[in-house]
Amino acid sequence: MTSIKDKILQRFLTANGEPISGQQLADELHVSRTAIWKHMQALQQDGYTFDTVKKKGYRLIAKSNKLDEMQIATHLATARYGHKIYHYDEVDSTQLVAHELIRNGAADGTVVIAETQTAGRGRMQRPWDSAQGQGVWMTTIVRPNILPHQAPQFTLVTAVALVHAMSDVCYNFKPSIKWPNDILINGKKCAGILTEMVAEADRIQALLIGTGINVNQQQADFPEELHSIATSMAIEEGEKIDRAIFVAKYLGYLEQFGDIYVKEGFGPIKKLWEEASSTIGKHVRATTLREVIEGEAVGITETGVLEIRTANGEIKSVYSADIEVQ
Ligand code: BTN
Repeated sequence: MTSIKDKILQRFLTANGEPISGQQLADELHVSRTAIWKHMQALQQDGYTFDTVKKKGYRLIAKSNKLDEMQIATHLATARYGHKIYHYDEVDSTQLVAHELIRNGAADGTVVIAETQTAGRGRMQRPWDSAQGQGVWMTTIVRPNILPHQAPQFTLVTAVALVHAMSDVCYNFKPSIKWPNDILINGKKCAGILTEMVAEADRIQALLIGTGINVNQQQADFPEELHSIATSMAIEEGEKIDRAIFVAKYLGYLEQFGDIYVKEGFGPIKKLWEEASSTIGKHVRATTLREVIEGEAVGITETGVLEIRTANGEIKSVYSADIEVQ
């Protein structure tokens, strides 16, 4: 249920900078003017700035820099995804919070977002740098009706959703997908996807789609060792990005492409993935748990598996690997 504070915020976020009087809010929400005043104080503490317009009331002049539920909700156009958002200033990892929520029965499309993570992690348990308030550190809980062995394909669905959302809010670059889980801009990593699963042998209970997206960092915000390999949307676009609009777009595409995938299979997603891929046709070096495979990435299969043609013409299937594009 939406709290009174959130309802007040929603009114201001959709008022396009027009003033709203305390009395009007009190009447609409059936609470006292003192209660309205207290909630306004709380909103100011959350980082929202209001001014008072004589005889007309309060006007929202600056939004909080936080990626909270209400800011996303004003831009959201989904049937299910993002209808419940848990927003935190700091967590260990949004994946861990999501695991707990799944145990408690969280619905399809539930989202966990943190301004920063103290133990953010990527694939292979690698640490994930989660700069305070600059990126989108987020886990989406999805409950698709698919089999456990299909779970990796959802990483590719997510990658397609991410590049579409990026292209909707940025015009100065074209993001590309490096198989299986990286989004690159001009050859540098801008986002990574970590797909985890809670399943029984023949049934997925839930997928945890973790997305680490570098949005508003500047070069100096990255640790030294990432300077040559990481970038952000803002660096490449040349201006700050509204994270709430971007997240709402991403959730829209994730729901849309996820539903297409469940209903129609991987075919339509494969096509979108290939259009956005920077891996296919390139010479790659794939390090799997068992071996290193070098050759030309010739494509992905109908199930999302990467195929590499080695120097002796043999086609090798790669299910999971670190890929260096050469
Ligand atoms: C990778 O490229 O290896 C995947 C990185 C995934 C990072 C995100 S940030 C939100 C979520 N919480 C985590 O601890 N990890 C994922």
